[in-house]
Amino acid sequence: MSFFTKERRLILAIETSCDETSVAVIEDEDKVLSNIVASQIKSHQRFGGIVPEVASRHHVEQITICFEEALKEANVTPEELSGVAVTYGPGLVGALLIGISAAKAFAWAHQLPIIPVNHMAGHIYAARIVQPLQFPLLALLVSGGHTELVYMSEDGSYEIIGETRDDAAGEAYDKVGRVLGLKYPSGKEIDQMAHVGQDTFHFPRAMIHEDNFDFSFSGLKSSFINTVHNAEQKGIELNREDLACSFQASVVEVLVTKTLRAAKDYPVKTIVVAGGVAANQGLREQLGSKVKEELPDVQLVIPPLRLCGDNAAMIGAAAFIEAEKNHTADLSLNAVPSLAFDRMKN
Ligand code: KG4
Ligand code: ZN
Repeated sequence: MSFFTKERRLILAIETSCDETSVAVIEDEDKVLSNIVASQIKSHQRFGGIVPEVASRHHVEQITICFEEALKEANVTPEELSGVAVTYGPGLVGALLIGISAAKAFAWAHQLPIIPVNHMAGHIYAARIVQPLQFPLLALLVSGGHTELVYMSEDGSYEIIGETRDDAAGEAYDKVGRVLGLKYPSGKEIDQMAHVGQDTFHFPRAMIHEDNFDFSFSGLKSSFINTVHNAEQKGIELNREDLACSFQASVVEVLVTKTLRAAKDYPVKTIVVAGGVAANQGLREQLGSKVKEELPDVQLVIPPLRLCGDNAAMIGAAAFIEAEKNHTADLSLNAVPSLAFDRMKN
């Protein structure tokens, strides 16, 4: 039986896996009727990172307001909805549970099915809001917690073909930013500084020549930190913009090289870049020009900045794929903090 039996095809989606409380209403796979995002980043900045307990408390305070605003902005009543989608992992357990509890209460009150969604699948399906996707598809997932190349032979099928062996790309940005005295999260600021600097430090490009699709960013991070500390001990002042540019040049070159290699090895029609680091201007520009030059028949989809960070609209877009397969959950749904895609066996 088809999942959608009502006049309109509407899903309400919830995202609370980390530090944004978000509720959205999506119609027909890709129409965002509302996408309310309440960020808590200011509360975490003074700690230099996310404090899980603080995150949970903020979600509790914000979630009902986000529900109300999302329905009001979409001009939709609960009776018109066909389901409630919610992120059930990966993420912070206490944060995930706030969204899941809200989803259960709302689903129970309005007799709606619950659609559990993987947060990383959500990041990929942010691209579906931009345009229809052609398969096979390769997704470069780059966020604060993840750096993965995911191969998708069809909608809803995810296989990891490469991943970071240590730090995630966003994590490396944030750690390096701390050494430069920048506010958390520092990816955006380093990106801006990089644009006025030069790659004078030539930091290492880890694993770039290795015949696999894995990544490593901890060596780059150490190299950066050692360079800064050595200079400090000698009383030498280094150019901060050049440091940012050199760091970003290394990250971007590795990400672009490995993504292109994978896109040539697998029969992909589409490349999607997803996750918070997909907002990076250097990455967007370089990948854009390389794909055009070396893979002109492949469509490259990088969502606009507002859909790169955590938001519920992307969860709603991914939920349509799950709904069509009737992948629903009952009130026993639990959070899975380390939820992951399978690694491809080769
Ligand atoms: O996907 P996301 O919003 O949250 C996670 O699920 O992790 O990603 C956040 C990460 C942070 O590490 C942040 O520093 C990074 O994305 N980020 C950037 C940029 N904007 C955000 N990294 C590099 N360049 C940017 N412009
Ligand atoms: Zn995320």
